[in-house]
Amino acid sequence: MTRGYGRDPVGSPACDNVARAPHAFQLVVPSPRVPAVLTMPPSLEARQLTRRFGTFTALDHLTLKVEGTKCVGFLGPNGAGKTTTLKMFTDLIFPTEGEAFVNGISVQQDRRRALSSCGALIETPEIYGSLTPREALQLVGAVRGMSAADVRERTDRVLEQVKMTEWANQKVGRFSKGMKQRINIASTLLSDPDVVLLDEPSTGLDPRGVAEVRSIIRGLKGEGRLIFFSSHILSEVIDVCDEVILINRGKLLFYDTLANVNARLGSGATSVDAEFLRPIADADVARSIASLAGVTAWSRLDERRVTLTIQGGPEKRAEILQGVAGLGLGLVGFHESRSALEDVYLQEITTGES
Ligand SMILES: Nc1ncnc2c1ncn2[C@@H]1O[C@H](COP(=O)(O)OP(=O)(O)O)[C@@H](O)[C@H]1O
Ligand SMILES: [Mg+2]
Repeated sequence: MTRGYGRDPVGSPACDNVARAPHAFQLVVPSPRVPAVLTMPPSLEARQLTRRFGTFTALDHLTLKVEGTKCVGFLGPNGAGKTTTLKMFTDLIFPTEGEAFVNGISVQQDRRRALSSCGALIETPEIYGSLTPREALQLVGAVRGMSAADVRERTDRVLEQVKMTEWANQKVGRFSKGMKQRINIASTLLSDPDVVLLDEPSTGLDPRGVAEVRSIIRGLKGEGRLIFFSSHILSEVIDVCDEVILINRGKLLFYDTLANVNARLGSGATSVDAEFLRPIADADVARSIASLAGVTAWSRLDERRVTLTIQGGPEKRAEILQGVAGLGLGLVGFHESRSALEDVYLQEITTGES
C-alpha cells in the first residue's frame, strides 16, 4: 500500500497526528498498514552538515537530499562517518556546522516535530533481558507518547513484520543476537514512521541473522516509507536498495540510482574469473587465452585462477568461454568477478589511503 501524498491538505507534514483512516477500515483490509496523509513525500536532507571531534573532521560539509518512498543505501567503509551522520539526523549529537532536515523540518531547530514521523535504529541498543518483546515495545510506545490501544495494535503488526510473533511473550535475555535485532527493528517501526533510519542493521549478526534482517528490509519496501540504511557491505546495498550514497572519510563521493551507477561505470567491459584444474603458466595465458578476440586484459588471482577483462555483451562472453574451454587447459569454472559498482567502491575507498 502506498501513501497518497498531496491528496489531502489536512495536518502539517509528518506530524504524528495526521489524519488516519478510521479503525473499521483496518478490520476490512487485512494489511493494517494505513497510509498517513502527508502533503509531501518523506525526505531527508543534509545542508553542509559537518561534525568535528577536536581537530578531526568526521563529516565534512555533506549536502544531499533524499526524497520519496524508496530504499536508499548509505554506503561507506568503517569510520566513513555514517553513524555520525545518522546521529545528527536524530539529534543524538549536534552538528559543528550545517543542518539536518527530516520531512523538511530542521532537526536542530524543531526536534520534536522533525522526528515525530521518524523511526531510527542507531548502532545496537541493548534491550533489558528480563523484558519480553511485548513489554519492551510497550516502553517504546510510552516514550513515543502512543496510546495503549495504538501500542497494542501496532505491536502485533510489527512483531509479525519481523517474524517474532511466536516469541512475543518470551524473555529477550534468551534471544540470539539476530532475534534481538529483529526486536530493535520492530521498535523502530512501532510508531508507523514515514522515515526509517537503520544504522548497519545486520552488522555483528551471523549469516542467518544477516539474511533475516535483509529480508525484513526488503519487506519494508513498497510500504510507502523512506528507508535509509547504512552499511559498509556493498553486496547488501545492491541487494536491497534503489539508490546508493557513497561516503568516505566524511565526504560524499556520489549519490545515484543503482541502475545509473552500473550504467555509468559499466562501459561495456566486464570481468570474469576463469578457474583451471591445474596451475596455469603466465606464458599459456598470454599466448592462448589473452589472444582470444574480445579479451582486452588479464590478471592473476592465484596459480589456478585468472581474471579476464572482456569487451562486449553476453554473446561475446559465450564465444570467449567456448574459446577458453577449447584450449584444453582444464577449465573448471567461469564466472563474473565483480560488478562495476564494486570496482568503483574499492577504487574510491582506497584512493588517498596510505
Ligand atoms: N565521539 C567521538 N569522538 C571522537 N571521534 C569520533 C567520535 N565519534 C566518531 N568519531 C570518529 O569519526 C569517524 C567517523 O565515525 P563513524 O561515524 O562512527 O563512522 P562509521 O559509522 O561510518 O563507521 C571515525 O574516525 C571515528 O573514530
Ligand atoms: Mg557506524
